[in-house]
Amino acid sequence: MERLVIQGQQRVAGELTVQGSKNLTLPILCACLLIPEPVVLTHCPRISDVEETLEMLRKLGVYVQQEGHTILCDASQASPSGLSREMTQGNRMSILMLGAMVSRFGYGRIAYPGGCRIGKRPVDLHEMVLESFGTELEDADDGLEGTRKQKNGCRISLPFPSVGATENALLCACLSEGESEIVGAAREPEITGLCRFLNGAGAQIRGLGTSRLQIGGVKRLHGTGYEIEADRIVAGTYLTAAAVTGGECQLWGVRPQQLSSYLDFLARLGCGLHLQEQGVRLTAPLRLTSRLRVKTEPYPGFPTDLQPMAVGALSVAEGEAELEESIFERRFDAAEEMRRFGARVQIAPPCISVRGVRRLHGADVTGRDLRGTAALLITALAAEGETRLEGERYLKRGYEDMLRDLAQLGCGEIRKEAKEWQSYG
Ligand code: EPZ
Repeated sequence: MERLVIQGQQRVAGELTVQGSKNLTLPILCACLLIPEPVVLTHCPRISDVEETLEMLRKLGVYVQQEGHTILCDASQASPSGLSREMTQGNRMSILMLGAMVSRFGYGRIAYPGGCRIGKRPVDLHEMVLESFGTELEDADDGLEGTRKQKNGCRISLPFPSVGATENALLCACLSEGESEIVGAAREPEITGLCRFLNGAGAQIRGLGTSRLQIGGVKRLHGTGYEIEADRIVAGTYLTAAAVTGGECQLWGVRPQQLSSYLDFLARLGCGLHLQEQGVRLTAPLRLTSRLRVKTEPYPGFPTDLQPMAVGALSVAEGEAELEESIFERRFDAAEEMRRFGARVQIAPPCISVRGVRRLHGADVTGRDLRGTAALLITALAAEGETRLEGERYLKRGYEDMLRDLAQLGCGEIRKEAKEWQSYG
């Protein structure tokens, strides 16, 4: 087993082009199953969640070719097949694969999705979506089997703007007969990206970027190409790294309006921000200041995926702040672990209060999910002394190569070290 050894008191200074978005690439790969012609995707991130999703597609008979950041998918010969727990436990995509399978073939079987343990993450809204589109669902070996009994479009009203359930509804609606409508849809930029991709393949989706999506069903989708946009959460991670280290950075490829609530947070901490059409430059003050209250919310609200990074930033800011986590009921592991750095963090779910200290100190810490591990890594850059961080495998789910990126941003003193097993007598 390996762990990362991070030298503290490194300062971010540099520029970087941000990798493609994980949470856009994954649903688009599932949507490829709907298209019986070749699709070419560029600027795809090289991360393990993408690898695992490509494996699922291969299992379903999709021809997949990956070269650098370009992926070619040809689902002309695809057929429905069971996706086992072994294949589905790494991420949330199997439930979208089920939507795509029943839409294209009328049948599909999957094991339940896995992914980060940040909450219960039920699939009831996905089930509601699939059933509304005429699919009969049955329990099958730790998963679900779906058979589509009728192909009509429908009107769905989501009680909560779930990202995944909105994506599933889009996948079901495109090839349905007649009109469909999704009311209460999630408005995340990744949903808009998926709509643009599908429209490029011949779908008829209107209302992009709003909570009311209208879809005119088509008989068939056709081949297309699509360039994946920059990952706004990766961008937010590196901006926070600059903020906590008193640094400065220029990120390219990012659309600032997709990160506006987080940029607003960084500005309230005292960071200077210069927004470009596709870029952000951040200059941190000598010391961050915090006297604020924020709550994670569906887009365009404060993103839950950047909550652990925000806790890191608040840990070294002057003043006291309160963060409320309203999306995932168990996303507190990283905040808890920050205490090992000397952070003054109190957790009373759903709230985290943080009283900033002048200096954190290096420590042995463990990441237990993707964003939490990334947050611990960037916070360690600001601490005094050395940090040993376990959980690198989680980083690979969403970040192409954080060591490479941070080295480019001037923080090259991070190395991997083999962890020796301890034996207990
Ligand atoms: C997506 O997850 C992202 N994942 C998550 O990214 C992100 O944190 C989340 O949206 C919120 O922004 C991908 O896009 C692959 P949801 P998803 O359905 O679709 C509840 C990251 O680190 N819910 O909007 O799973 C659910 O439990 C991650 O990159 C139901 O109750 O999120 C949660 O409390 C992790 N029933 C809330 O809704 C359902 O059927 C939001 O979930 C579905 C969801």
